[in-house]
Amino acid sequence: KELDIELAAIEKGNFEHYMLKEIFEQPKTILDCMRGRLLAEEGKVRLGGLREYIDQLCNAKRIIIIACGTSLNAGMVARYLFQEICRIPVEVEFASEFRYGSPVIRDGDVVVAISQSGETADTLVAIEKAKEMGAIILGICNVVGSSIPRASHAGVYTHAGAEIGVASTKAFTAQLTVLYLIALQVAKEKGTLDNEKYRSLLNELDQIPSKVQTILDNSYLTQSLASLYLDATSMIYLGRGYNFPIALEGALKIKEISYIHAEGYPAAEMKHGPIALIDEEMPVLFIAPKDHTYEKVVSNIQEVKARKGKVIAIVTEGDVVIKSLADHVFEIPETDEILTPLLTVIPLQLFAYYTGVLRGCNVDQPRNLAKSVTVE
Ligand code: G6P
Repeated sequence: KELDIELAAIEKGNFEHYMLKEIFEQPKTILDCMRGRLLAEEGKVRLGGLREYIDQLCNAKRIIIIACGTSLNAGMVARYLFQEICRIPVEVEFASEFRYGSPVIRDGDVVVAISQSGETADTLVAIEKAKEMGAIILGICNVVGSSIPRASHAGVYTHAGAEIGVASTKAFTAQLTVLYLIALQVAKEKGTLDNEKYRSLLNELDQIPSKVQTILDNSYLTQSLASLYLDATSMIYLGRGYNFPIALEGALKIKEISYIHAEGYPAAEMKHGPIALIDEEMPVLFIAPKDHTYEKVVSNIQEVKARKGKVIAIVTEGDVVIKSLADHVFEIPETDEILTPLLTVIPLQLFAYYTGVLRGCNVDQPRNLAKSVTVE
């Protein structure tokens, strides 16, 4: 028993919790995930695990992404990604709904299963069903040799290392990294991305680990933010495009870790319902980097302010417009809009972590949750 406690202390290093340690590991885990795969100088992506199936993926008529929880949110980012840069239609399905929802699989469909543990029962039975129906299954998993990779035709490991905190953090950014690598390789082979844009995305991706580090260096800002809102009973997270799934992930994290009710929504959808919830008590978190929907998000922020909601916004460094409207801003370094989820999610992980700690929650093992759910 004592030995266990000592071992845990060693593994956690100087961090109070695994979750915080894992959040801070992300510059390294993203780098580990790209090592030997992203060859920025040569302008190449090389994913050994996909070699035999890359043609099927490039020729896919449709990609169906199946996952649960945080992994599903990574899949939702991938929908925007594969559609934009590979021009392949993508559907993202809750694994549990796919299996029992009379799925339709056609010739040329590729199913991508995303799972940290590789053991999630809902995901496993869904891919078994899809395989039976003739789909090609690609797995994106963290745990080497787990059930989902074994049930898949091919796949890519995320190499994030063991994730102990029940709420997923570093595995999520590693999943995103793998998805970016796959999409870039496919886009290059299909010729759906012009060469200049392709090269610039490779270079930008290469710089993500150091930009994540910059955000982590400012983690104290998310801590003081958390101390201002720890008594909130509910929060709304809003984002658009690539950052709509990050709104979902931010809301999921705060629910899991601090037990504060939260909802993630596409920013523009706010007016079709959630706006009714806004009063002076309601914190609304906007994920609002400079991108092609920026102006629209700014007007959503104005709508919230007009109803006296409290606005916390994740913005691109140097943003002055949102700074003048929001109650608080957290700046992230500039990057290509396509890659922003790898940065915008970090302050939301930290915010959930600090909120949970300040509320006295067990952040590494939240009530009622399990690291891997092996029952349907
Ligand atoms: C559980 C965990 C979540 C995780 C989900 C999917 O609910 O608590 O953190 O996102 O399972 O797990 P997977 O291992 O398939 O990614």
